[in-house]
This record gives sequence, C-alpha cells and structure tokens, in this order.
Amino acid sequence: MSELIYLNGEFIPQENACVSVMDRGFLFGDGVYEVIPAYAGQPFRLREHLRRLDASLEGIRMSPPLDEDQWRDILQRLLAQRGDADQQIYLQITRGAYGKRLHTIPEDINPTVMAFATELARRDPELVKQGMSVITLDDIRWDRCNIKAITLLANILSQQQARDEGAQEAILVRDGQANEGTASNLFIVKDNLIITPPKSRHLLPGITRDLVLELARDAGLPYAEASISVEELEAAEEIWITSSTKEVMPVTRLNGHPVDNGHPGPMWEKMDALYAACKARLRLRSSSPED
Ligand SMILES: Cc1ncc(COP(=O)(O)O)c(C=O)c1O
Repeated sequence: MSELIYLNGEFIPQENACVSVMDRGFLFGDGVYEVIPAYAGQPFRLREHLRRLDASLEGIRMSPPLDEDQWRDILQRLLAQRGDADQQIYLQITRGAYGKRLHTIPEDINPTVMAFATELARRDPELVKQGMSVITLDDIRWDRCNIKAITLLANILSQQQARDEGAQEAILVRDGQANEGTASNLFIVKDNLIITPPKSRHLLPGITRDLVLELARDAGLPYAEASISVEELEAAEEIWITSSTKEVMPVTRLNGHPVDNGHPGPMWEKMDALYAACKARLRLRSSSPED
C-alpha cells in the first residue's frame, strides 16, 4: 500500500493528496513549516518544535490550527507506517486557498495543514570524519529569519552557490556578522569557549542550537551567546553547524582555507558524543515506555 500523508484532517495516499492552485502557499509562499526528526519511532524534541511552529504562525498572523495532543496523534500515525525506523516529519501550514489572488490577508480563509514522514537521511560518515567545507556569502534574506517560513528562495540560491563552489553550506553574513547557515545554525570555538550568535530576527532559533547549549551547560563546557564577526569566524579554532538532520557537524574548510589544523576539533568530538548519548537515551526510553 502506498504511503499515507496527513492533509486537512485526513490520511490520504500521497498520490491522491491534492491542494488547490489558489493556495496561498503555492501563490505567495504564504506559510510556515517544521522538520522534526524521530528516533526509533519517537519524535525528538517535539514540544520545542511545536512551540517554534506556534511562534512562526504568530509571526505571520495565523492561529495554531492544532494543539500538541492533536499533532502527537497525527505524527504517531505517520511514523507507525515505518515502525521503529529513524524518520523525519515534514509539516507545513499555509494560509490556505482563496478565490482571488490578494496581497492582503483574507479573513474568511481556512489553513492548509499537511504532514508526512520520510526516512531520516543519515549523515554521511565520510563527511563527519573529514568535516564540511563552507563559504561565506552576503545574507540576501529578509529581516524575519526567526520565522520558519516556506519562502526559501534566498536560502536555495545561497545553498546552490555553495554547491557550485564545491562547498556543502554557506554561512550568511549581515553587517559583518556571521549569523547562521542556509539551513543550519552556527557555532565557533574561540579560546576553548563555545560561541553561537544570540537569537535575533537574523537567524532561526534552532532546536538543535538550543540542545547544544543545554548539553554544554550540563557537561560544564564553557559557552556564550555572542555575535560572531567574519574576522572571528576566520580565526576560529573550530567551526560547527547544527540542524535537526545534520546534528552537530564539524566544518574544516572555510572559503577554501583550513579551519585551524583542518581536522574536526576536540570540542566538537565532545559535543558530538554528548549529542549521540542524548539520542541513545530517547531510544532507550522508547524501548521501555513505562519508565
Ligand atoms: C535557516 C536555518 N537555520 C537553522 C536551522 C536549524 O534548525 P533546527 O536545529 O531546528 O533544525 C535550519 C533548519 O533547517 C534552518 O533552515
């Protein structure tokens, strides 16, 4: 049987799931989304993702169409299709379809709510070992990057430019400050201190970013939320990027030059191990749910 996706209250085979061409997501990119990893069938940091989803909705003047329990039920059903496999949920809410193409926000409109599960793309072990190559680019995005909007043209163009130049990610720079990647948050290590830029309208408040800070705190590793200038990025002992699917990735080349000695650093090794232990705890909990 073909895979079911969730669309507006129903679970439908993917090939039968249709959305109107008048949907404002299609016409304007008028919507928001989340990507949630699930290990052994258990969504990881679900509450945090849903909190950010609600903040994104508020940022585009929409109300949450579903509450946490409703989302939990939907995700459970989607994830059950692959049993205990590691997966990722993509969920998207657009403002919905309307009879006319209007730049103003119609009042009498119902959102389009959609979610599906796919296999979790595993990190390339070779890339984890070698570290990633990144370039810096001017941040050409808008001024509300804290909203996880589906309108991603600037991210796509920047990511493609990185690929064209033989790199895997672009670090986006605004007013001399390195804020984040096209699909990841940014960390550096400077004088043994882990640094990530503070939350602002210029970066997405990453769930993995927050978890890394939490893990650093619990393990007694020194960290700070502080802006990172391009000069600091270039002089960093270590650079990492983080996201729900990439986890914590070491960066070993910046604009074609090695980062420090060109190998993943010792602080990254510690953080990667802490992250792996955190995932392992979730798997353990899912195998003995009565705990
Ligand atoms: C622009 C941007 N920044 C940061 C992130 C990392 O966020 P998270 O850790 O919640 O996946 C993403 C994730 O896709 C992103 O698109």
